Amino acid sequence: MAFFLSSFTVVLSLLDTASAGWQNISASCPDYATYATQKHKPFSNGIFQLSNARPAEHCRTFVSPGIETLIHTITSQIGDPDLERLFENTFGSCVDTVIRWKGEAATGEELSFIITGDIDAMWLRDAAQSLHPYQSLVAANDDIASLFRGTINIQSRFLTEAPYCNAFKPPPESGLPLPANDFQGNVTPVVSNHTIWTPCQFELDSLAAFLQLSNDYWQATHDISFFQQESWLQAIDVVLQTMNSMKVPSYDPMTGAPNEHQPYLFISDEPGWGSLINSGAGEPFNAGTGLVHTPFRPSDDPTVFTLHIPANAMMAVQLKQTSAILGATGSNKTLEHVLYNAGASIEKAIYQHGLTQHPDYGTVFAYEVDGYGSYNLMDDANIPSLLSLPMLGFVDRTNRIYQNTRKMLLNRHSNRYYTTGPVISGIGGPHVGPKNPWPMALCAQIQTSTNRSEIAEVLLMLKSSTAGLGLMHESIDIYNQTDYTRPWFVWANSVFAQTILDVVERFPDLLFSEET
Ligand SMILES: *[C@@H]1O[C@H](CO)[C@@H](O)[C@H](O)[C@H]1NC(C)=O
Ligand SMILES: *[C@@H]1O[C@H](CO)[C@@H](O)[C@H](O)[C@H]1NC(C)=O
Ligand SMILES: *[C@@H]1O[C@H](CO)[C@@H](O)[C@H](O)[C@H]1NC(C)=O
Ligand SMILES: *[C@@H]1O[C@H](CO)[C@@H](O)[C@H](O)[C@H]1NC(C)=O
Ligand SMILES: *[C@@H]1O[C@H](CO)[C@@H](O)[C@H](O)[C@H]1NC(C)=O
Repeated sequence: MAFFLSSFTVVLSLLDTASAGWQNISASCPDYATYATQKHKPFSNGIFQLSNARPAEHCRTFVSPGIETLIHTITSQIGDPDLERLFENTFGSCVDTVIRWKGEAATGEELSFIITGDIDAMWLRDAAQSLHPYQSLVAANDDIASLFRGTINIQSRFLTEAPYCNAFKPPPESGLPLPANDFQGNVTPVVSNHTIWTPCQFELDSLAAFLQLSNDYWQATHDISFFQQESWLQAIDVVLQTMNSMKVPSYDPMTGAPNEHQPYLFISDEPGWGSLINSGAGEPFNAGTGLVHTPFRPSDDPTVFTLHIPANAMMAVQLKQTSAILGATGSNKTLEHVLYNAGASIEKAIYQHGLTQHPDYGTVFAYEVDGYGSYNLMDDANIPSLLSLPMLGFVDRTNRIYQNTRKMLLNRHSNRYYTTGPVISGIGGPHVGPKNPWPMALCAQIQTSTNRSEIAEVLLMLKSSTAGLGLMHESIDIYNQTDYTRPWFVWANSVFAQTILDVVERFPDLLFSEET
């Protein structure tokens, strides 16, 4: 803390504080989707000569002395110039580039509209994860706290209007043009294309991401009055109802007759959006497991078996944590218990229905199950994943079942989406294809490892595979790092920044030498 205070004045002098806060950046600022594909000087002074990817200060979407202080504090503890540069670029990425609008509703309610990067829309999941590395700054920096409150408020609104949807357009208050979306598909319940961006893929982890964002803010502030607001309580109620609707099985457990009252159906004529089979209901799943059905994955791809274990695990943890908010605010004792029990029952269901025996590894977590005894053993890079279970707070890194699972996942003979190559080796997924591991999965590998050499090895892979651009890409071709997807993908940058914060805590010496 003393260090923070002494470095504070240094950093303030680097910033024009008159421009702090959200900036409506000028049309003359470069388009960041293009900017991120080019190398900018000064390059880092290390082996990989990484680009200075942060936009000029007047072209950053949000400016905060707290962010600059933290970058300064952390980079002064890193000796490797390439990792320093990567931390600056990635920790800054969310505030610098994707705070598309921040303002207020007519009622004075704070609102933040945070896009994904090169897709100009707000995903519930991406926004929550993009803000996550700033959690430690929330208590002491009200500008950042306000960014969190604005994001929670806008997500409460989105969820209340379209609880089964994942990605949204700017709110009317922003005055931003509505991007056109002429989706011709058929979704039940019906949603307005003025609000939603993609056609509305139900992904359980979107609900969990909203809870995580709320818990991140709560744990930093204990801001009781914020969580007594009617709009937030109503959103929590919507989360519960939506989740419970997706526990109703495909067939009546007594008669075996198909359930005619599916709460959610998705039929699309757009290849790549994954129209769901069985008239939009998706694969059947069995009754009474206690797991929540999620027809889509955190990658937006359709599930193979719809009881997705990582999303259920994330939900279990977040429901219990949210219950603690209710316990402290005292606004509704019943809701406090309902939330806790919902989390505990999903957790129990995962251990009852989400485990299977692997011939080489013993008891492992499955990626997806159907409740009929079918297990999908694989992992997908997108978090929540099986690899990230300890990051989600579901198990400890040393949990034996997790350890078995982790060995299975990080092996190309037992995980069909683990690939090795000269540029990068790691977990990918069907979203881009099996030849492209995702840096996000390598970050999860570091954060869940207790093995110093493994962490050093993966850090080296990450910093040597950015094509010199100094940013985390969505995925990278195992043979050719210039062949990457998504130049401007903030979620992955934030996960990398969080990973460096983790290594600073656990293995600080690894950040010191250029050899890692
Ligand atoms: C942001 O700037 C644009 C012009 O570049 C202007 O049309 C718009 O009204 C501004 N938005 C806000 C919220 O000030
Ligand atoms: C909504 O969909 C309709 C019908 O496809 C289309 O004409 C309209 O432009 C869309 N509006 C927006 C804001 O996407
Ligand atoms: C408290 O929460 C329960 C469970 O969600 C709900 O049924 C009830 O209406 C809530 N009570 C009040 C006073 O809001
Ligand atoms: C630690 O990681 C290194 C490098 O990946 C590997 O060779 C070694 O077997 C690992 N050690 C243990 C105990 O898993
Ligand atoms: C690597 O990928 C880039 C971008 O797709 C391409 O232009 C280049 O030709 C590729 N290099 C090789 C050696 O294939």
